[in-house]
Amino acid sequence: MAAVQNGFPENFLWGGATAANQLEGAFDQGGKGLSTADMIAFVPKDKRQGDHSMEISTERIARILAGETDDWFPKREGVDFYHRYKEDIALFAEMGFKVFRMSINWARIFPNGDDAMPNEQGLQFYDDVFDELLKYGIEPLVTLSHYETPLGLTQKYNGWASREVVGFYVKYAETVFTRYRSKVKYWLTFNEINVMLFSPYTGGGILTDQVENKLQTVFQGLHHQFVASALATKLGHEIIPGSRIGCMLARMESYANTCNPADVRKRQQEDQMNLFFTDVHARGKYPRYMDRYFAENNIVITREPGDDEILAANTVDFISFSYYMTLTVSAGPEGEATAGNLLGGIKNPYLKASDWGWQIDPVGLRITLNNLYDRYQKPLFIVENGLGAFDKVEADGAVHDHYRIDYLREHIKEMKEAVKDGVELMGYTAWGPIDLVSMSTSEMSKRYGFIYVDLDDTGSGTLNRSKKDSFEWYKQVISSNGEIL
Ligand code: BG6
Repeated sequence: MAAVQNGFPENFLWGGATAANQLEGAFDQGGKGLSTADMIAFVPKDKRQGDHSMEISTERIARILAGETDDWFPKREGVDFYHRYKEDIALFAEMGFKVFRMSINWARIFPNGDDAMPNEQGLQFYDDVFDELLKYGIEPLVTLSHYETPLGLTQKYNGWASREVVGFYVKYAETVFTRYRSKVKYWLTFNEINVMLFSPYTGGGILTDQVENKLQTVFQGLHHQFVASALATKLGHEIIPGSRIGCMLARMESYANTCNPADVRKRQQEDQMNLFFTDVHARGKYPRYMDRYFAENNIVITREPGDDEILAANTVDFISFSYYMTLTVSAGPEGEATAGNLLGGIKNPYLKASDWGWQIDPVGLRITLNNLYDRYQKPLFIVENGLGAFDKVEADGAVHDHYRIDYLREHIKEMKEAVKDGVELMGYTAWGPIDLVSMSTSEMSKRYGFIYVDLDDTGSGTLNRSKKDSFEWYKQVISSNGEIL
């Protein structure tokens, strides 16, 4: 029997997580092509449909490209990490980061997605960023695809709906694995691969107005991503000895609304639909519960010969996930609706919610860590967690974000309990260590950072960086390896 692990392991990877399209800006510099995220405009809250402004039509893209709109596109500008990465990385280093999660913007490397040759300026940019991180001993953790499919792939192939995109992705993966083989050891193949269920454009660059059967297209697109992910895992292992390649899931831990078996069964079904993605990545095959779902929904997945073998032979080294909240599930119409990351649920009376209505549930993190580890027996990595909140800048420039500290502290406490429960946890990267553009709403006012960025929802501001109260707090968490919370 092994001894109980009290506290975090010595080599625990503390840090922060970002995505290129929400951070970098410089959307048309350095030879970068357009990406799907560059088409998403800011929509004021009162004009928004639901929480999300993530889907888009073919016609709207045509109008944007023809210059027929004067909308504001925040993800094109990000928070200008492209020009300020040295300053930002110095601040991460000051907090003591061991790891920094970022994505490579695919369209910086292959501007159209299907180009014959990569763009050297794009490759050089990430070389410079990795060198800067390594200078401080910060390990890069790189997501190959985080909601930024080259727009060319959407226009020419309807994104991941087409099998051909597998080949372009594999070529891109091979290019960056080869280039950065001495610099990057930790990789994630797709951010929140389950997002395609909620937004085919965001997750797969797919325009659903071009397809007859949306559900069929989504699951076919997902099959393409599963195969691409397995092929990238294989290549990563071949090209970078000692590399560790993971999948990434928007984990939706959920509770049944009551002990009525109908609620419990409904919750189980939703949980299976969430774990389907990690099942394929960790077990190397489609789970049997999906057979019935596909049959009852007339979904037929076209597979090429060899696909099953590719999935089976190239399972991931670890499982990473985002965790912001839990959901409550009811079989009937009972319950008051609530917002959430990608998906809402019904209100849980035992939980408080964030300014955006996401239900805050630290204990749920311990539950999900135990569930995932029991199921897969593979190391886990929490690669997103945090509180999106309104911050107030005081007259002296300070931001007293005690609410963020409280959120993070309670989650880290539960992580520590999960480690004690026996869960193998590699690391923790808080989402948005520096304020960045919100994925779902494109707002700047939904802030996650330890570092404040002077920029508002309309793009006004100096872009100056300053430390919030949470900066010193997180620094202390890292230096004490999670002992001082
Ligand atoms: C995750 C995404 O879903 O949640 C991130 O991987 C995103 O890209 C994060 O930013 C928080 O969501 P939001 O909508 O508050 O930015």
